[in-house]
Amino acid sequence: MSVYSVSAIAVAISAGLFLPATAEDSDPVSRGAYLVNGPAACSNCHGTRNEKFEIVEGMEFAGGFHIVDPAFDVYASNITPDTETGIGGWSDEEVVKAIREGVSPDGEIIFPPMPVPTYNNMSDADVTAIVAYLRTIPAVKHAVEESHWNIPQQAMPPAAGTPAPPASDQIAYGGYIVNAVAHCFECHTPMGPAGPDMSKLGAGGMQITLAPGMEIVTSNITPDPETGIGNWTDEQIAEAITGGVKADGGLISPPMPYPWFANMTQEDLDAVIAYLRTIPPVSNKVARTEFQQKNFP
Ligand code: HEC
Ligand code: HEC
Repeated sequence: MSVYSVSAIAVAISAGLFLPATAEDSDPVSRGAYLVNGPAACSNCHGTRNEKFEIVEGMEFAGGFHIVDPAFDVYASNITPDTETGIGGWSDEEVVKAIREGVSPDGEIIFPPMPVPTYNNMSDADVTAIVAYLRTIPAVKHAVEESHWNIPQQAMPPAAGTPAPPASDQIAYGGYIVNAVAHCFECHTPMGPAGPDMSKLGAGGMQITLAPGMEIVTSNITPDPETGIGNWTDEQIAEAITGGVKADGGLISPPMPYPWFANMTQEDLDAVIAYLRTIPPVSNKVARTEFQQKNFP
């Protein structure tokens, strides 16, 4: 090895180019698999569910899950590579546009409740990785019913595709996972008259209908010590996010995606918790619904 190339390596090391691969720049298919089955929890909606609300094996992305709300009556799509009933016939660009802007190739707007406003913040590398992974899952032929909306829909603007902050910038990186990938606030922010009430970001109280008669409300995850999670230890918050158990030992009800969040790396989980500690505390006492109390004491 010549002196020149040795010094070139030294320069590369000092510039950070030879540091261990971060989650952001590892192989796209494994990065995509991690995001989809971890913090993005796509199957929480796109999995086919049986009457016990369990995801049917082999149908994790085959769609058909029925989500009803006063604003919409939708069936999550089949996102496997099947060409007839899935997205096998779409180009990568078309899938990217559906995920980050919420528009399908035929021009239809596909959200809410798909968390497109969150995905609009996703980096080019991450959305490309997700699409690369979706191409590798087995094609499943499963036709899904049509969705309907009772509200005017609007596409998200073209995504900026800004790279994720480096994981070493823990709070910014945690903010990226929360606001671009894991859609925490799309569930944990209450609805106001014109969409989510951003003055109560993360303060809970959003009502979600799991199925007719199965109404649940989301919790306050701001650092408010009385009504939020300000007094919880990091371990307690981690257990809620990945294990579905509250600080008081009570169980957390679906659709909190803890079975997917359980696949999050320790680094990502720590970053999410560090970031949640920095959002403004909002005093908002959320009562559990009768359904929650009965089924998830
Ligand atoms: C909160 C529920 C929810 C989550 C989470 C969700 N989606 Fe969706 N998604 C939907 C629904 C509902 C539709 C169908 C809308 C319609 O019928 O037009 C949809 C549609 C799509 C479509 C368009 C497919 C088509 O045939 O119209 C794609 C692609 C897609 N989702 C990908 C994803 C990916 C990838 C993720 C995870 C990163 C994800 N979705 C997470 C609910 C969700
Ligand atoms: C699809 C909707 C949804 C998403 C996405 C979601 N949550 Fe939840 N979360 C819930 C529901 C529902 C509960 C449980 C409410 C109950 O059982 O009282 C919950 C409960 C919690 C709790 C327990 C707090 C308490 O006092 O009960 C924490 C902490 C939490 N979520 C954090 C997060 C974080 C962090 C994210 C993103 C990484 C996230 N959630 C994403 C729906 C969601």
